[in-house]
Amino acid sequence: MESIEEQTVSMPRIGDKAPEFKAITTQGDINFPVDYKDKWIIFFSHPADFTPVCTSEFMTFAKREPEFTALNCQLVGLSIDGLYSHIAWLRTIKEKIEFKGMKNIEVKFPLIEDITMEVAKKYGMIQPGESTTKAVRAVFFIDPKGMIRAIIYYPLSMGRNFDELKRALIALQTADSYNIATPADWQPGDDVIVPTAGSCGIAKERMEDKQEMTCYDWFFCTKPLPVEKVKTK
Ligand code: BEZ
Repeated sequence: MESIEEQTVSMPRIGDKAPEFKAITTQGDINFPVDYKDKWIIFFSHPADFTPVCTSEFMTFAKREPEFTALNCQLVGLSIDGLYSHIAWLRTIKEKIEFKGMKNIEVKFPLIEDITMEVAKKYGMIQPGESTTKAVRAVFFIDPKGMIRAIIYYPLSMGRNFDELKRALIALQTADSYNIATPADWQPGDDVIVPTAGSCGIAKERMEDKQEMTCYDWFFCTKPLPVEKVKTK
């Protein structure tokens, strides 16, 4: 029996370069993240094939894949199952499962086989307090330079919110495009936060001449960013 340290190894952090690996997937062999150079990647794990929450998630991800593709984002999934289990499960989803109006759903993005748990361990997807044999529901947002920009973890029992995954991707891309930050519950079209004043002079200017900004105090100013300027599709 491996120790907890051996099961988890390490967790990449926000700001780290995405750990590289080669893997077998339902769409052929991949070299990660090199094969997706110049794209955003949402790399996510699920606990196991042929389980209900995962099935609902895969159907939703597959149905919404075009929305992520439009945002220059590649989806890549992983579980600690073998290739033939993956293939059988994806065939079952397409041929038999009808859920919330979704049917005949074909999963076209790669699903990694990781029976050895090598990749899952590299990405801290094994959380022994939750399970030593199944990956938790991890989501890594990786930018076109191969850097990890956001990480969200969910337990085995909770299906992910795909509106939130898309909102997070758009918020990251918008922050990069306009050098802004996004406030709580931000949605495209809402005001955005301008970088905090870095000098007394700028703080004074902001309070005296707010231009198009709304300043709640010298350190907290927002400005409009119309929805037409935000890439949402
Ligand atoms: C599920 O996807 O339904 C599931 C997987 C592992 C544990 C519990 C639920």
